[in-house]
Amino acid sequence: MAQRPPVSDWSTDFDHTDRRWIENPFVIWDDLRQHCPVAQTERFGGVYLPTRYSDVRAIAYDTNNFSSRRPVIRENPPTVGLPSPPITSDPPHHKPARMLLLPAFTPQAIARLVPRTQRICNELIDAIVGAPTCDAATAYTQHIPVRVIAYMLGIPEEEGDRFRRWIHVFLEDTIVDDDNTAADRLLATAAEMDDFFRPYAQARRADPGDDLISFLVQARHEGQPLTERHLFGALRLILIAGIDTTWSAIGASLWHLANTPADRARLVADPGLIPTAVEEFLRAYAPVTMARQVVNDIEVGGCPMKAGRLVLLPFPAANRDPAVFRDADKVLIDRQDNRHAAFGLGIHRCIGSNLARLEITVALEEWLKRIPEFRLDEKRAVSWSRGPVRGPRSLPFVLGA
Ligand code: HEM
Repeated sequence: MAQRPPVSDWSTDFDHTDRRWIENPFVIWDDLRQHCPVAQTERFGGVYLPTRYSDVRAIAYDTNNFSSRRPVIRENPPTVGLPSPPITSDPPHHKPARMLLLPAFTPQAIARLVPRTQRICNELIDAIVGAPTCDAATAYTQHIPVRVIAYMLGIPEEEGDRFRRWIHVFLEDTIVDDDNTAADRLLATAAEMDDFFRPYAQARRADPGDDLISFLVQARHEGQPLTERHLFGALRLILIAGIDTTWSAIGASLWHLANTPADRARLVADPGLIPTAVEEFLRAYAPVTMARQVVNDIEVGGCPMKAGRLVLLPFPAANRDPAVFRDADKVLIDRQDNRHAAFGLGIHRCIGSNLARLEITVALEEWLKRIPEFRLDEKRAVSWSRGPVRGPRSLPFVLGA
């Protein structure tokens, strides 16, 4: 891989793919928030970076001046669009595209998945307990959301490797472009995903079941069946948003517990606290940073922003703003007042939040019941993903007291 120029100054030349950002973005954001709350870079075609909660919120709510047409920042985006409604849609198209997905993600619909999720977690734990060490990312966290979303869509749960490869191409591999092939690789992967979903869509049109693909092929958007472009775009979004995010959140939570024996012991002794702790893990280790494109010249937080440029919208940095959260840099697993922005703010707020909360909670409950003692294996390194979704991709643990 070609060497990228080192960051000369985080306030004028930031790079969210830099190794220091990947490993510990918190110190960078904290410093910027104090000295230059809206940073900039000429990299990636010109990007602004707000770090205060109030600025992130203002941008997320201002859909007149900030568009979602490019929610992922890429060095060389393809010249043809890859719409994934509703996340890439702006008003007035956003609302109907969002409304049609909502019934599949209500609290009632999601609660039905609890027994299945418990079973998935326990099957994975069966293969881990008894061993002296494990990689909790590759043996546990990466499989749970894949298998739950595959079950919801009615596609094979065993296809996890393929789904994770697609996600890697979309969110990590093609966001930088060292050899001028990123756009082609991205489009080829999108086409491969369409080819994968096409036969399922055809089969469910002919013989619908109660899965999410059947639901979408029967859905109406502005009175009409979804076009193939809309259907495959929505399926791409559900598959990608449904896996990488929750995988990262479960991993970051386990990473924290492996690092913090007092919190681990407290949750083992009092599992009723797990849902409250999950909210704190979501706040402190929020995995998702999206982007917007500036539509009109505008000023935010004292920083003039030029139309056409991009804004990195770091919900995780907003969640660490001491102006909004007491002891923002501390992880307090019994924090009560916790209106974090991990699931976004405004019209694009996450549709899958009920599902994500369920998966993270069940994953921690089942793990702590059967593996109450674990710590990081200091002989092996933890690695974190780069790009819009941050989470541990290897999580070496020593198991047992
Ligand atoms: C911990 C896990 C998750 C986190 C932190 C998360 C975070 C987010 C964030 C920050 C947004 C807003 C994007 C924006 O403003 O541009 C979003 C949107 C969205 N998320 Fe999630 N997400 C998670 C899990 C899921 C799951 C499991 C699904 C299920 C398929 C899902 C589906 C979606 C969809 C469809 C949208 C677009 C909503 C819209 O544009 O109206 N997410 N998510």
